[in-house]
Amino acid sequence: MANTSTTQDVPEQPSRRQIRSIGPSGNYWYVVGIDKKLKPGQVEKVRFWKQNIALFRDEDGDLHAVEDRCAHRQLPLSAGFVKGKNIMCTYHGWEFDGCGKCVKISHELGKDRTKMPKIKIRDYPVKSQWGLIWLFPGDPELADSVSLPKIPQLEGEKPWPFIPIDVTINSHFTMIVENVCDFNHEYLHRHKQPFSKPTLRDWKREGDSIHVYYDTKFDQSPAAKLFVEGGGKDFNEIDIWYQYPYQGSDIGGKYIHWMFMLPEDERTTRCFFVFLFGPIHLPVINRNIPEFLRKPILWFTNKWYIIPLLGEDKWALELEQEGFDRYPESAQIELNPAVTHFQKLSLERWADYTNSIAEKGKRKKASKATEKQQ
Ligand code: FES
Ligand SMILES: [Fe+2]
Repeated sequence: MANTSTTQDVPEQPSRRQIRSIGPSGNYWYVVGIDKKLKPGQVEKVRFWKQNIALFRDEDGDLHAVEDRCAHRQLPLSAGFVKGKNIMCTYHGWEFDGCGKCVKISHELGKDRTKMPKIKIRDYPVKSQWGLIWLFPGDPELADSVSLPKIPQLEGEKPWPFIPIDVTINSHFTMIVENVCDFNHEYLHRHKQPFSKPTLRDWKREGDSIHVYYDTKFDQSPAAKLFVEGGGKDFNEIDIWYQYPYQGSDIGGKYIHWMFMLPEDERTTRCFFVFLFGPIHLPVINRNIPEFLRKPILWFTNKWYIIPLLGEDKWALELEQEGFDRYPESAQIELNPAVTHFQKLSLERWADYTNSIAEKGKRKKASKATEKQQ
């Protein structure tokens, strides 16, 4: 095996307890929903690493995200209503705008005020791209300088169509990365056979990305037999990556997937999968299908094959989480060298993030102290 990492940069293996308790860095954009599922006037509760967030679309169609708590008595705003551009608490009806500012108190004690008291909850940068809703949970000052992943297939005049899959897996996000990037769990999928005979050929780390290359076969997959050129026989390798905090893969530049994880807590991760099929080919008639049939076929493939396949991973991952909870001190035995690199990358980004929060806290304290002295 010719890996492009040198032996001295293979990290020491972190302990299982250490890796399964870290959080995600908030200084990236995370998918928190599917655009068309959140209609104007609707609010939805989403979670990023133990923070509850009320995501809402105002009646003009603009997206907003604020802490999911009313500043008055901490009721969740996601239990409230959207009113015009604002979100209204269901208890005493206080209204907060999309920036989290309390802008209206219409009950007896608030309505004749000429000046509103200064009440504000946290708001989050949020935007829509490729039909997905993205939220920046970390330092809002960094949001504009951090880019979304580059997905050329979704750019340009003819973006590839896709139907996102939203699945919640009750396990730590690092387990999910290891599952999706590590083809050695072929046995789990022995009936559905999305790939077969995988051999780890190489891996490399470049900055925030780790690429893993497998030689493998796809011609046993029922989906490939039905919808892929040559029934999948012409594709023999896959490039699969962990591009922090995202995950993806590429088969021959024609069949691509991305997984956008939303870690909610140590045992819950919401995953948004995007499967991109370049040509959808019917080997029976040896033709690519026409454009108007692509979405129905993608819908069918998701329902019939991909969602049940992901169900097998979900099942195994949830059992793995239970196993970890029962035996947290058990030694970590890992045969795939790339897995240690995934873990190290997650650990590094978490350490950077927690350090940046601590630094910011110190700077704030220092500037408050200086203000007091003046
Ligand atoms: S608790 Fe929300 S308005 Fe009183
Ligand atoms: Fe799998």
